Amino acid sequence: MTKVLFVCLGNICRSPMAEFVLKDMVRRRGLEEEFIIESRGTSSEEIGNDVHYGTVRKLNSVGVPVEHRQATKFTKRDYDEFDYIIGMEARNVRDIMTFIDEDPDDKVCRLLDYSNNPRDIADPWYTGNFDITYQDVVEGCEAFLKSIT
Ligand code: 4NP
Repeated sequence: MTKVLFVCLGNICRSPMAEFVLKDMVRRRGLEEEFIIESRGTSSEEIGNDVHYGTVRKLNSVGVPVEHRQATKFTKRDYDEFDYIIGMEARNVRDIMTFIDEDPDDKVCRLLDYSNNPRDIADPWYTGNFDITYQDVVEGCEAFLKSIT
């Protein structure tokens, strides 16, 4: 069993998008029984709130199933429970480190660190551009799956 946790700031735009995209990819490959995939935020701002409408609309348009969920904040216990702790941007990695102090198992990185072009994934909460975020999330999830399978 491979346990993957995506982390962003609010847990309503990018990390749920990555959660649903990766779930769809592993389902299509017949691997869903081999993965646990969840997401969290580092801020308290959106705790309890459902997925942002921009993420829902983008995923609906490309046929990626969306689950209703409540935004949840990252905790130190998540570090022990998951094999991969994957942030969307450098700020998320810095914020995760304030919860865990150290990363002895080298579990924490950005999603696009798995790609050939490591970079941050922009926050559509601020940019309003869910198309670019989706393209980056797909690139990162494909690269991540390739790196572990
Ligand atoms: P996310 O986007 O980190 O991709 O979920 C954000 C959502 C909400 C806020 C910031 C970023 N906020 O400040 O409430």
